[in-house]
Amino acid sequence: MSGRSLISIADLTTAELEHLVARSGEYFTAQPVDHRPLRDKVVGVLFTVTSTRTRTAFSSGVARLGGTVVAYGPRDLQLVTGETLDDTARVFGGMLDALVVRDPVPMADLRRFADVSGIPVINAMVREEHPTQGVSDVAMLRTHFGRLDGLHVGYFGEGNNSATALALGLAKVPGPSLSLATPSGYGLDPAYLAEARQLVAGSGRQVREVHDVNDLGDDLDVVYTTQWCTTGTTKPDPDWRRHFEPFAVTEDLMSRWPGAVFMHDLPAHRGEEVAATVLDGPRSIAWAQARMKLASAMAVLEWCLGG
Ligand code: CP
Repeated sequence: MSGRSLISIADLTTAELEHLVARSGEYFTAQPVDHRPLRDKVVGVLFTVTSTRTRTAFSSGVARLGGTVVAYGPRDLQLVTGETLDDTARVFGGMLDALVVRDPVPMADLRRFADVSGIPVINAMVREEHPTQGVSDVAMLRTHFGRLDGLHVGYFGEGNNSATALALGLAKVPGPSLSLATPSGYGLDPAYLAEARQLVAGSGRQVREVHDVNDLGDDLDVVYTTQWCTTGTTKPDPDWRRHFEPFAVTEDLMSRWPGAVFMHDLPAHRGEEVAATVLDGPRSIAWAQARMKLASAMAVLEWCLGG
């Protein structure tokens, strides 16, 4: 294989993640002129579920780095008519230099695709994890605060694929702690929580999960939330909103941490997981966070394909 895949943050060494975070920060601060590490590269961008930021970030990122995008939507490939994943991978391996994928498949399918195709595969969100969101969010924290050391991030909402990536990403770099406030029954996958905890064990840092916002301490530097219905998913319990309402980020909740900034991976639903005055208010860095997605997509593409 020529190049490297990014399928899970768990696959990265600390040094590799730190490199991606630093490089994202550089691309965020200044878009270099005549920097074309993807010249002559053709990257497939396959999104079978909705996306505004990630799809645009990777498509724009490939173009800015000198490469060419071949875009596929939800019903474009013969996978829909029954062609196998392995056959698709074999064909793509002979025509593309990398594939960026968002699909609600298990992560094992991406690993299989990378093995069979022989080209780098970038996970743009699958069932278990959204690693490029995690890289981007760690980079945003590093860029905004100028440090990760000693930061305490509070995450509010479902323990979804973005939360998993955030937990693994924050645990893997030195310095930060994470408290997840999730509705009971909608927490982080216990295996990923255990993995993140293992990464911080003995460091004096913490990764913990609570199911009551009153169990959080008074030392959060960041209040982070996410949409209540994770992209591509539904909730079987018709009464699920009742469980999420105590985790809504309101002005009242924010007043508990007067020094904290607000982050949101977007898309946002004002009046649901976040009050409009918080998302659009002076403590919100959500719009810079969204812009970081392009910078971090460029860092990931360069790392995967740039030699
Ligand atoms: N945060 C995020 O992944 O946004 P999109 O779903 O719009 O890509």
